[in-house]
Amino acid sequence: MTVLVGYSSKYGATEGIAERIAAALQSAGVDAEVHPVRDVHDPSRFDAFVIGASAYMGSWRKDATRFVQHHRDLLAQRPLWLFSSGPLGTEKTDDQGRDMLTQAVPKQFAEFTDSLTPRGTQVFYGAMNIAGLRGRDRLVSKMPAVEKILPDGDFRDWSAIDAWANTIAQDLSPSSRTVS
Ligand SMILES: Cc1cc2nc3c(=O)[nH]c(=O)nc-3n(C[C@H](O)[C@H](O)[C@H](O)COP(=O)(O)O)c2cc1C
Repeated sequence: MTVLVGYSSKYGATEGIAERIAAALQSAGVDAEVHPVRDVHDPSRFDAFVIGASAYMGSWRKDATRFVQHHRDLLAQRPLWLFSSGPLGTEKTDDQGRDMLTQAVPKQFAEFTDSLTPRGTQVFYGAMNIAGLRGRDRLVSKMPAVEKILPDGDFRDWSAIDAWANTIAQDLSPSSRTVS
């Protein structure tokens, strides 16, 4: 059983989350490989999939979306988990009292959940280095309404990431599927 931890990351935050998930799976005895989705041309050799990308303006990154759409028949037949990285800051709720992680679910997840029935979907807090932003992201990040919801820093919650990876390892372990 080999698991693909496939990711799309613009500035590296999601890459770090994917690497951490793969490391946690490996520590739990699950054979896992981590690759950017754009480098995976034949996913049929993988037995299970954990696919993640960052969200920008409410949308999962395009190459992860395309990967899932392109391989939907395969992914629908094998164990699948999806994750997104995005919300920034230490607040658990936004200024209207809504859960930050729920609010940050990328719009693609509704359709993927319906059509692919993943075993789990998860949003993780992300990271951003304002000084390193390029092009349009740089301009958008300076807009007054946006500036306050895009604080600079690394807010990735490694214990939540490890805990989620461990639930995947547990699900994939042969003993968890034993019917008594
Ligand atoms: C211009 C801009 C727009 C963003 N829009 C969102 C968003 O809609 N939802 C979200 O959760 N995070 C958003 N973020 C935060 C990023 O998704 C977050 O920093 C993420 O961890 C970056 O991951 P990456 O380096 O792998 O691309 C945005 C960041 C920038 C700079």
